[in-house]
Amino acid sequence: MTNHHADATDAGAASSSSATGTTVTVDAHLPSDWARGAMREDIHRAFTRRPMILPPKWLYDDRGSEIFDGITRLPEYYPTEAEREILAGHAAEIAAVTGATTVVELGSGTSDKTRTLLDAFWSTGQLERFVPLDVSEATLLAAADMLAARYEGLEVRAVVGDFTRHLQQLPRGGTRLVAFLGGTLGNFYEEERRAFLGAMADSLEEGEWLLLGVDRVKEVGRILDAYNDSAGLTDDFIKNVITVLNRELDGDLPVQDFDYIPFWDAKQERVDMRLRATAPIQSRIAALDLDVALDLGEELRVEISNKFRIDQLDAELASLGFELAHSWTDANEDFGMVLARRTAD
Ligand code: AVJ
Repeated sequence: MTNHHADATDAGAASSSSATGTTVTVDAHLPSDWARGAMREDIHRAFTRRPMILPPKWLYDDRGSEIFDGITRLPEYYPTEAEREILAGHAAEIAAVTGATTVVELGSGTSDKTRTLLDAFWSTGQLERFVPLDVSEATLLAAADMLAARYEGLEVRAVVGDFTRHLQQLPRGGTRLVAFLGGTLGNFYEEERRAFLGAMADSLEEGEWLLLGVDRVKEVGRILDAYNDSAGLTDDFIKNVITVLNRELDGDLPVQDFDYIPFWDAKQERVDMRLRATAPIQSRIAALDLDVALDLGEELRVEISNKFRIDQLDAELASLGFELAHSWTDANEDFGMVLARRTAD
């Protein structure tokens, strides 16, 4: 089939129907220069505040996404396989418990976990619509093609958007299950996470569902190995953010003058991934008309990855308008999947 998609500049929507009756619609809520504007704001803010904190979304340009893909195949990086195991074992139960007719996937990508989830909803005959939301239109279109070929007659309503800003744009109707997988909830700082879950609750009707995949607190050595792999992929992944901002914002930060420093923050129960200047740095980010100075040893905070205790997450969800319906873990108890239902206000 062929997709016709909206020119991202018109922030409109376009659709096409294939011979099999599958409809693919792409709603573009982001103007085509959105990423540049948002990046400018984020990077400007990061370098004019102390401590310097970068939002992790800028790690995922083409190269960053490719490196991350490599990370998920490392033996040390246990979350991907653990989550796959849980989904493979329980997707049918998730379909049965929720009775959902629409599956929404946030930050969907094109991965096989989407397929595992949708296969279960499809085989019962309950699945009417799939709504993938991603910042990358190219990613959405690739996913839509795969889906339209696999699920004949499924309505695919792709949303180009940022899940930290566009939850209100999700199409309504039917009973929706929103899946937020891969442990990405762990990349939010606590206040951001509460804001995100609160916005999620606001956008759902009573009786609709949220499915979260989260990494669990475990022995620190194993967690650190997953973020400090011997192949050096995580080091490349985190440093890539410097390359991205140099390229996109005409910067001249010396990537060779940073060391990747991951550590376990025992109080917050999260991995903290930073870049530390190994020399004094005097750089310029021309597109922001901004001079950037870092002292020797000064750090740039690039990403955190929170690890969860399921009972604490349940309590947080309960305080924000959800009730826990089920939770599952893999045989090793490394990863958690939480299914929560939107309660009445
Ligand atoms: C984006 C949540 C899937 O935090 O484990 C992996 C990102 N960063 N290694 C994570 C990541 C460094 C990852 N997720």
